[in-house]
Amino acid sequence: MKKIAFINEKIKEYNKKIYIPGDKSLSIRFVLIASQAIGKSIAYNLLKSEDVMNALKVIKKLGINYRIKKNFCEIDGKGLDGFKFKNNTIINAGNSGTLARLIFGLLINSKNSVILKGDKSLSKRDFLRVILPMKKFGQNIDSKNNKLPIKIKGTIYPTPINYIESKASAQVKSCILLAAMKTSGITNIKCIPSRDHTEKLYKYLKLPIKIIKEKKFELISFKGTKNYKAFNYTIPGDISSASFFIVLTLLTENSEILIKNVNVNNSRTGIIDILKKMNGRIKIKNKKIYKGEEIADIECKYSPNLKGIKINSKINSRVIDELPLIFCLVCAKAKGVSYAKNLEGLRHKEQDRLKFVVKFLKMIGVKTIEKNNNLKIYGNPDLKLNRSYIIKNFMKDHRAFMLACVAALTLGGKKWIIHDIDSINTSFPNFISLLRNLGAKIH
Ligand code: S3P
Repeated sequence: MKKIAFINEKIKEYNKKIYIPGDKSLSIRFVLIASQAIGKSIAYNLLKSEDVMNALKVIKKLGINYRIKKNFCEIDGKGLDGFKFKNNTIINAGNSGTLARLIFGLLINSKNSVILKGDKSLSKRDFLRVILPMKKFGQNIDSKNNKLPIKIKGTIYPTPINYIESKASAQVKSCILLAAMKTSGITNIKCIPSRDHTEKLYKYLKLPIKIIKEKKFELISFKGTKNYKAFNYTIPGDISSASFFIVLTLLTENSEILIKNVNVNNSRTGIIDILKKMNGRIKIKNKKIYKGEEIADIECKYSPNLKGIKINSKINSRVIDELPLIFCLVCAKAKGVSYAKNLEGLRHKEQDRLKFVVKFLKMIGVKTIEKNNNLKIYGNPDLKLNRSYIIKNFMKDHRAFMLACVAALTLGGKKWIIHDIDSINTSFPNFISLLRNLGAKIH
């Protein structure tokens, strides 16, 4: 595949129905949780992206077999004590923060040590947020500045913990829940709500998890050491991937799209709530429950009357991966000023995404003020671009690449030269071909 995307014309009107690949968070969780089940688990529509392939390679290195067939993937789980590997086995999480953080949990009882590595972007990210709770469980962790590579060795008797998680991080919460499975006792987590796929899967597997929702926090308690049987799962479409097509459609004259079978779990649909408030024409249709997760079709239409918004920061964790897209495109094209607060979390993703947003908005001529992780964006519905733009050096951040493509196809400009096409393999390998199906010209 070519390394650079060239776009020099806007996308023309379209009216289509599309399917989006499987949810990344759920795909990674399926692989890890199936690796601990007893027997053969099967996933249909598992996302075939680099992050998920890396999850499969990691469990393989830890002694668990899997097979990828045309329509499904099989994993031969060996139970909670089933990992078998040599001392100092190297595992590589590639670009995936989720995989890297969740795997700590599964290694809580490992008898041998593992050296966890990642790509350039992941090696810049901080792991203290998982190192702290894992050390409380008794895990032995050897790292320089809390960054990869990190040496991890489990403990024969992991102790259940009480932990307060105040960053609304689903990765930390899930890592703790995976470790808690292997303790004999009750682990309690007090946390700010974040995506709850792990909890929903545990409930579906009838594992003893209890959740009490309070005003600001959630109290999760989980009782460990119960082996569970293999299971089958059909992964629904990923709303984070769908969001690029939602925004594309809101900004493309006379266009309409129906995105089928998307996971609309409430902890992930902040983007729908925000865009609707901004006058985005979006409808959720055919909602149904599948194994605890909500699935629906999302219908979107061209929305010419977008208006600025004051985003309540309570919603941030429900839209954490989509915020840059909303800021750089929807707030930029909306009438009036948009405000967002407490965006520190964006700084700890594949790149400093808050920095990217500010740079991007400045580049396309949208007045933006960033102060103490708060943003103020002066939208301009008449925004017209007439020069060329180059997007590069963004740590191969898949979401930044896709955002730039949607910008090029909706905002216009002379020419967009967007580097590192390959970054889409992380989460959405058929992104470009789906855009082309809608009529986009990408060279
Ligand atoms: C994820 C949690 C979020 C999100 C990431 C996927 C997950 O990260 O940004 O893309 O699957 O648990 P944090 O837990 O760091 O907020």
